[in-house]
Amino acid sequence: MSMQRGQWSSRLGFILAAAGSAVGLGNIWGFPIQTAKNGGAAFVLIYLALTFLICFPVVILEIAIGRRTQKNPVGALDELAPGTPWKSVGMLGVLSGVMILSFYIVIAGWVFGYFLEIATGGLQRLATDGEFSTFVGSAWKNLIYMGLFMIATVAIVVGGIKDGIERWARYLMPTLLIMLFALIVYVLTLDNAGKGIAFYLIPDFSKINIKVINAALSQAFFSLSLGMGALITYGSYVSKQDNIISSGFIVTLFDTFIAFSAGLLIIPAIFTLAPETTAETIPAGPGLLFVFIPKVFMNLVADIGYYPASFLGAFFFLLICFAALTSTISLLEVPTSYVVDQGKTLRKKAAMLVGAAVFFFGLGSMLANGASEFFTQFITYPKGGPPVDFLTFVADIFFETSLPLGGFLLSTFTLFIWKTKNLNEEISQGYPDYPGSLVEKLITTMLHVAPFVIFFIFINTVLAKFFGITLF
Ligand code: PHE
Repeated sequence: MSMQRGQWSSRLGFILAAAGSAVGLGNIWGFPIQTAKNGGAAFVLIYLALTFLICFPVVILEIAIGRRTQKNPVGALDELAPGTPWKSVGMLGVLSGVMILSFYIVIAGWVFGYFLEIATGGLQRLATDGEFSTFVGSAWKNLIYMGLFMIATVAIVVGGIKDGIERWARYLMPTLLIMLFALIVYVLTLDNAGKGIAFYLIPDFSKINIKVINAALSQAFFSLSLGMGALITYGSYVSKQDNIISSGFIVTLFDTFIAFSAGLLIIPAIFTLAPETTAETIPAGPGLLFVFIPKVFMNLVADIGYYPASFLGAFFFLLICFAALTSTISLLEVPTSYVVDQGKTLRKKAAMLVGAAVFFFGLGSMLANGASEFFTQFITYPKGGPPVDFLTFVADIFFETSLPLGGFLLSTFTLFIWKTKNLNEEISQGYPDYPGSLVEKLITTMLHVAPFVIFFIFINTVLAKFFGITLF
C-alpha cells in the first residue's frame, strides 16, 4: 500500500516538505502585515502563545492521523470512525484546499508577475502610484501569471511524493533561507532600519482586543497549514520509524521563525523609506508588499544605481515565489491525494483535473480586483459594511473561518472519538518512550484545552466578521 502511495525518503524529507507547505505567503506577507497593524511585539507574543499551546497539539494529531491511516483526510476519518459523519470534516479539508489554492494562486501570480517585470526593467513603473491597481486590474496578464504558477504546481505534484514534492522542497527551502537572510542583513545596514526594529519589537498592548486574538489564531492556522488536512496528507507518507513529535516541533518552530524573520525584513524596509511611520500610518494590506516595497527598492537607486536596485527587487519577489510554490504544492496535494485514493485514478490525471478545477474557481478571485465589477463588489457583510470582493470573500470563508473550524473538529474528534490512547499509541511508534513521559503529559493537557479555546475564538471570529457583532 505505502509503496504505491509513495513515502518520504527520510525524516528530513518530510520536515522539508511540511516546512515548505507551512512557509508561504502567510509568513512573508500575512504575518508582517498583521504584526504591523496589531501592536507589533504584543501581537507576536499572542501569536507565539497560540502557536505553541493551541496549534502545536493539532499539528501532532494531524500527522498522527495521517500516518496511522496512510490515507487522505476523507479516507483517514472514514477509517477511524467508519460510517459516521466525521468524514465530512475531511471533505471540508479537501474543499478548503481547493478554495484556498484558488485565491492563493492569484496572489502567487502577482508575486511572480512582479518578479518578471522587475527583472526585465520595470521597477520604476511598478514603484509609481496607482500601478498596482492597474496591474491587478489587467485580466489577461494575470491569467498568464496565475496560469504559469498553476502549471508549475501541477507539474511538481505529478512528479509524486519523493521525486516531485520532496525533491523540490530540498532545492527551494535552503535557497529560500539563504535569500531571506541575505536580504535581512542588507536591509538592516540601511538608514533608519533600526527604527523599524524598535517598532517591531516594542510591544503596544493597547492594540490588543478580541479581534486581534481572532486574527492571530486564524493567521497561526493558515501559516502552519493547519485545520484542512494538509498535515494529515503529508503525514500519510511518513515512515512508522519517525518521531512525529520532534518532526512536528521542528516544522512548527521553523515556520514561526521564518514568519518572525520576515518581519525583520519587511518592517525595517518600510522605515528606510518612511522613518516617521506609526502604527496608524503603517501600510497594511496588499499595498504593503506591492506598492510600498517597490518604492523601497526604487529609493535605493540613488545610492546603488537602477540595475542593482532592480536586481535586489527581483530577488525579493523571487524569494516569495519560492515560498509560495512549496505551499501551492501542498494545497494541491490534498485534493489530489483524495482523488487518487478514492477514485483509484492515476496521480497525473488527478493532479491535472484538480488543477484545472482550481484554476476555474481562481478566475473569480483573479477578476476581483478591478477587472470585473461583479467580482470586485461581490457581496456585502456585515450588514451596512462596504462591498467585499470575491477574493476576500473566499479568504474570509476558507482561511479565517474554515481552518479554525477544522482544527476544532479535528481536536474534538481526537479527544472524544479516536481517543488519546490511540493517538499516543501511534506517536509511540518511532518514539517508544513517549507514553508516561513529561512530553506526553504536556501534549495531552494542551489537547484537552485546545478545542475549547479554538471554539471560543472561532465563534467570535464568525460573529465579528459576518455579523458585525463583538461579544467582548
Ligand atoms: N501555510 C501556507 C502559508 O503560510 C498556506 C497554506 C495553508 C498551505 C493551508 C497549505 C494549507 O502561506
